[in-house]
Amino acid sequence: MPVYCITGANRGIGLEFVRQLAASPDNTILALTRSLSSDLTDLKGASSSSSTHILECEVGDIRSIQAFAQKASKLLLGKDQKIDFLVNNAGINGTSAQNTLSLDPDGLLSQIKINVLGPAKTAEFLLGQDLLADDVRVLNMTSGLASLEMTSEGPRKAAGYSVSKAALNMLTVHQGVNLRDRLPGAVVIVMDPGWVKTRLGGHGAALEPHESVEGMLHVLHGLKDEDNCGFFHHSGKKLPW
Ligand SMILES: NC(=O)c1ccc[n+]([C@@H]2O[C@H](COP(=O)([O-])OP(=O)(O)OC[C@H]3O[C@@H](n4cnc5c(N)ncnc54)[C@H](OP(=O)(O)O)[C@@H]3O)[C@@H](O)[C@H]2O)c1
Repeated sequence: MPVYCITGANRGIGLEFVRQLAASPDNTILALTRSLSSDLTDLKGASSSSSTHILECEVGDIRSIQAFAQKASKLLLGKDQKIDFLVNNAGINGTSAQNTLSLDPDGLLSQIKINVLGPAKTAEFLLGQDLLADDVRVLNMTSGLASLEMTSEGPRKAAGYSVSKAALNMLTVHQGVNLRDRLPGAVVIVMDPGWVKTRLGGHGAALEPHESVEGMLHVLHGLKDEDNCGFFHHSGKKLPW
């Protein structure tokens, strides 16, 4: 009975994770949304089974993440369950037209808060509630734009977003070691979902959400101890930092 926790699950890639995972009644899913007041029609449609729980978690707000972790504790510990897979998926690309000479300070700071601090605090507070399984798998959703090597060789795009996802990559390299100090079987990775047709990726993107998520679930389920702190493409290929 694996337990999955997915942030930003009400649309896009997060919603597709819920859709695919909810197809198996054995999975317990914590499907997190920034606000329970949002339009959750698609998420409710994708997760009609009683083992999917829709919970509020605004990952840009530390108090909201703390409140979520407390709710999750009441929900899971009563059933003696822990989270086996944490997918830190929620993210924003708030300032895609800006380059490093036109960065909007508030825009950059929100991306750092949501794309970097959010995944850090989500893992921290879930661990604090003793809700992460000893061999938890943590997938921090990054981007090819986070790679220094690939960016050095290609066009520079979405500077603030790219900086925030590169910071998420570094966070992951630390988090993988910090979590292992407490949970010896933990594996923490960053994953590039590819260019996916979502609100963030746009209609012209290369992949349908189901293609990207099928690949990511395959990688997630096959992770081994030695993959800790790795940078993966949804196809399973290792990416250069
Ligand atoms: N699509 C691509 O081509 C692509 C490529 C590389 C990486 N990624 C990464 O993949 C992840 C998912 O992106 P997507 O394409 O599915 O984007 P999306 O369609 O824009 O969905 C983003 C999701 O994140 C949630 N979210 C944003 N800010 C949040 C916050 N502060 N608190 C809680 N939830 C928040 C959104 O909730 P609301 O509905 O409430 O805003 C939504 O559920 C992101 O981390 C993104 O950077 C995507």
